[in-house]
Amino acid sequence: MNFLAIGSLVILALANCKADHGSEEIILKQGGLSGTGTTTRYWDCCKPTCAWPGHVDYKSPVRSCEANGVTTIDPEVQSGCESDGRSYICTDQGGFAINSTLAYGFAAARFINTERNMCCACVLFTFQSDELKDKKMLVQVTNTGNAPESGTNLFDIAMPGSGVGYYTQGCTSQWHSDVSNWGDQYGGVREEADCYNLPKWLWDGCKFRFEWMKGVSNPPVSFVEVECPKKLLSISGCNPVS
Ligand SMILES: *[C@@H]1O[C@H](CO)[C@@H](O)[C@H](O)[C@H]1NC(C)=O
Repeated sequence: MNFLAIGSLVILALANCKADHGSEEIILKQGGLSGTGTTTRYWDCCKPTCAWPGHVDYKSPVRSCEANGVTTIDPEVQSGCESDGRSYICTDQGGFAINSTLAYGFAAARFINTERNMCCACVLFTFQSDELKDKKMLVQVTNTGNAPESGTNLFDIAMPGSGVGYYTQGCTSQWHSDVSNWGDQYGGVREEADCYNLPKWLWDGCKFRFEWMKGVSNPPVSFVEVECPKKLLSISGCNPVS
């Protein structure tokens, strides 16, 4: 092999390293859950259920924040959706694109067919709608969902500006922003331009629904449980194996 060939090999190797940076291999969880489910979406600004130490089986629960949405708050502080509470969801716990076919995010979930505490587990969605057929989203469970009577797996994907849902007072309490800025109570803002009615720290998370998710509303999914990628663990602070 001549010197030139070795030289290009080294360059190739460096280029490969660079391409791999930031993308993580997706690893199926041994004995994990799988199935199909329906999705909805929400952003109620409330402290997520898995942010309470008593709700997780691991060393640290999901990070929750002061009203600025950035500063980590003591996990025992009451949710801002209760009277005299002042703990909220952190602004970085919405969905975001890794590339055109893969996104990461967080969700409230209710699983059928398991007694396990699923707080902080991760699942990979394959969307069942045609418009999103090439896309997958890997979410960590940070919250619990209701409607146990439905008999189906439910995933309420956390996306700013996608509906405050039942807790109408959380976002107004956190941001002193009128509830009308947050769009329909169920569904949220209807157009990407209305994302700019939200506090600016939530603009990107709101636009994610219209850009990467193409504005598709509540796509059904199939899912498999996977190991949580480091990137999600570092955002949420809840590692389901530690
Ligand atoms: C997106 O990232 C995933 C994970 O690294 C990778 O498997 C996939 O090929 C990437 N897609 C594109 C279009 O780059």
